[in-house]
Amino acid sequence: MKKNSIWFGLIAAAGMIVLFDSCRGETYEQGRILYENFCANCHMDDGSGLAGNIPPLAKADWVKQSGAEMACVIRYGMEGEIVVNGRTYNQAMAGIPQLSDFEITNVINYINHSWGNDYGVMTLEEVRSALENCKQ
Ligand code: HEC
Repeated sequence: MKKNSIWFGLIAAAGMIVLFDSCRGETYEQGRILYENFCANCHMDDGSGLAGNIPPLAKADWVKQSGAEMACVIRYGMEGEIVVNGRTYNQAMAGIPQLSDFEITNVINYINHSWGNDYGVMTLEEVRSALENCKQ
């Protein structure tokens, strides 16, 4: 009886890991597709940006430090001077209002885990509260 319940516990735990992993895989994949449709035009497929005009997202100190604030840039855009990896940029990025909170979360997590970035996982709740603070 005791042995059985240990096995049951192990199998249940393994099942949960598989479920969790496949879930993560899907949101990452959605983030990748959204990135390619909405961001890659300017920031490039590899997140390198365009020298002098469009700041990079790959290995970018701004991205690393921004946390959920990136959600505000995606929804509402940004303009004015910005320094990324020691280079100054001063162009305008238009907001992308058609992306849902959930889609924004997936794009951020895609960026945070691509091209050598390892900037942590952002939750939907963190994105929602950031968006609440910069609501326009
Ligand atoms: C039409 C071109 C364009 C598109 C499309 C675009 N961006 Fe931008 N993005 C810019 C420009 C230009 C800036 C710099 C704005 C400034 O100088 O103030 C910028 C700045 C940023 C920044 C802050 C600086 C940095 O590089 O770390 C982030 C983060 C960002 N964009 C993410 C995104 C994401 C995510 C998408 C897609 C959902 C996206 N952008 C789509 C042009 C674009």
